[in-house]
Amino acid sequence: MLTSNILTLLLTTASASSIPSSTIDRSLIPEFGLRAGQSPNGSGSCATANNILIPCFCPPDRGEFVDRVNSAVAAGNVLGTPVTFNVDPLAQSDKDRFDRATTCLIVLQNFNGTRGVGCPAVSVPNILSQQKQFARLL
Ligand SMILES: *[C@@H]1O[C@H](CO)[C@@H](O)[C@H](O)[C@H]1NC(C)=O
Ligand SMILES: *[C@@H]1O[C@H](CO)[C@@H](O)[C@H](O)[C@H]1NC(C)=O
Repeated sequence: MLTSNILTLLLTTASASSIPSSTIDRSLIPEFGLRAGQSPNGSGSCATANNILIPCFCPPDRGEFVDRVNSAVAAGNVLGTPVTFNVDPLAQSDKDRFDRATTCLIVLQNFNGTRGVGCPAVSVPNILSQQKQFARLL
């Protein structure tokens, strides 16, 4: 069991290093600021810190989310909605940060692959507050 976990880990690491260099620096993708599954109500709804009901799978798995952001940035859109994300870690203007947070929210809100089906913005309080903060400064 342990051996197979280590093998899986090694394989995962090996394939991760073959991902094209366009892969986004993870530090440019803000933390969610909430862990999924808080205060489940027994029928699929959970709650934010402010007691707003959200689906219990939200926010989604971080690794899966990062993959989706990568795909969205590579494609330049999410289901037809254009996204802008400066992948240069040195680009830290208010506009760059606003655009990155906005891209994350668009990916999140369409997470299930159908327009508008995914997680609400309130399920990622950090990203949402970053978007608001930098919008004010633009
Ligand atoms: C849980 O919340 C959902 C969404 O508001 C609601 O539809 C459902 O009835 C609630 N279930 C319980 C057991 O309160
Ligand atoms: C969206 O995907 C999540 C898992 O990735 C799943 O738990 C959820 O039921 C899906 N929601 C809808 C509405 O398809």
